[in-house]
Amino acid sequence: RAAADPLRPRFHFVSPAGWLNDPNGVSQWNGTYHLFYQYNPEGAFHHRIQWGHATSTDLVHWTDQPVALEPSAGPDADGCWSGVLVNDAGTPTLVYSGRLGEQELPCVAVGSADLLSWSKLPQNPVIAAPPAGVDITAYRDHCVWREGSIWRQLVGSGIRGRGGTAFLYESEDLRSWEYVGPLFIGDASQGDPADTDWTGTMWECVDLFRAGEGSLGTVPTSGHATDVLVFSAWDDGDTRHPLYWTGRYSGDSFEPAGLHRLDYGGRFFYAPQSFQDEAGRRIMFGWLQEGRSDAAMVEAGWAGVMSLPRVTTLADDGTLRFAPVPEIEKLRRDHVGLPGQELVATGAPVATGVSGSQLDLELDVQLEPGAVLRLGLLGSADGVSNKSKEETVIELRRTTEGDGQGTLRLDRTQSSLDPTVDVDDKSGPLPMPDGRVHLRVLVDRSAVEIFANGKPLTARVYPTLAGENVSLAAEGTVRLLSFDAWTMAEIFGGARNLFP
Ligand code: FRU
Repeated sequence: RAAADPLRPRFHFVSPAGWLNDPNGVSQWNGTYHLFYQYNPEGAFHHRIQWGHATSTDLVHWTDQPVALEPSAGPDADGCWSGVLVNDAGTPTLVYSGRLGEQELPCVAVGSADLLSWSKLPQNPVIAAPPAGVDITAYRDHCVWREGSIWRQLVGSGIRGRGGTAFLYESEDLRSWEYVGPLFIGDASQGDPADTDWTGTMWECVDLFRAGEGSLGTVPTSGHATDVLVFSAWDDGDTRHPLYWTGRYSGDSFEPAGLHRLDYGGRFFYAPQSFQDEAGRRIMFGWLQEGRSDAAMVEAGWAGVMSLPRVTTLADDGTLRFAPVPEIEKLRRDHVGLPGQELVATGAPVATGVSGSQLDLELDVQLEPGAVLRLGLLGSADGVSNKSKEETVIELRRTTEGDGQGTLRLDRTQSSLDPTVDVDDKSGPLPMPDGRVHLRVLVDRSAVEIFANGKPLTARVYPTLAGENVSLAAEGTVRLLSFDAWTMAEIFGGARNLFP
């Protein structure tokens, strides 16, 4: 008899079976949201990748649709890798990387009006080879947009000995493409592969868009706009993390102004892709990959979680700000609120009366200089010592300087008694004007998404004891201005959660 897997998320999108990685073709089409994804239904490993497909009318509940693309004899015989959906004068059109042997090349498929059946173009691949005379590290993944009467496309790549890049192309019909040149070339000699903002030797899943007013390639309609080049920094060593450049895209190039980490969880929010919905919101999805061994994934029978959709906006300091789409709030059920109070303390955890493994938490706090707030999740109390045996801890720390700076950290070191899972610390800088932090936390079994003043930190955790305690602890003075918690409903009923 099938048993419910306690680690399988209940309100994040997961594939019906097997393996999931990157979000693809994210879009809204005649009102309906479409999420395609890298999929292997045969098992929880990356092999002979297809495009899974799900649709939604609210970005919360998803309906599985037939697989959109499957490898077939030709340039995608070994996999239909990542790509995008564009609207070609009313015809839904996919641009993706066909994999054959060790090589990926751009391919195109056109869809029926309902986006459920897809025909690959006989002339695939539509670009026969990477640019000649350039020693590349890889060549795949696509960002495609309309600029006036022409299509433009970026293909992610890297130039050996230099750094990651994206090659720019132009087309009138999405079928025949002319090479323009590298949009911008990163410098892999800057920094070191261990740095959380190292730009890598290859850029996977490049995504170029304008944050703020106006659209890509036009003169900005206001000062409150910046062009953003999102990429997933990759290296054949261990580097895998999402970054973005802010700057100005004009003509055939991108002039970078700043480099930023997109999510402090690094590889746990990988290969993001965004789109603008019909309401004009920029919405981003990312792949929450696993932190367990290949063998453990195969054993579980499933791997990979899609992030909740995030609204992406431009903050006053010119960086991106993220928040889960408000639609998610309709899953909120039982509410617990705590009264505003001052936590002056010793570091000993206080029970909140909140418990659960599917939670939405929203807090407003104010930290005095040097103060620390710890929010413990998925805690499992040990009756004897009253100390949690397993606990995942979010830590907000303000510097002693009183300069409104601090750190967001996810301490996973005690998150699991399983010695084989990834429990590395994740952290990043957190501006907190006047010590104030708005903290939003979504816990969904093994998936945790944190947003602190709009800075995201996403990771996976693998508790073994089914702990549900939520605790608070302070060092120094922390004012709890508000604390609200809800349990979260499941998005897939019955059988789809029973696994394997
Ligand atoms: C990113 C990635 C892409 C590629 C796809 C293959 O995670 O490696 O570069 O197209 O996954 O599944």
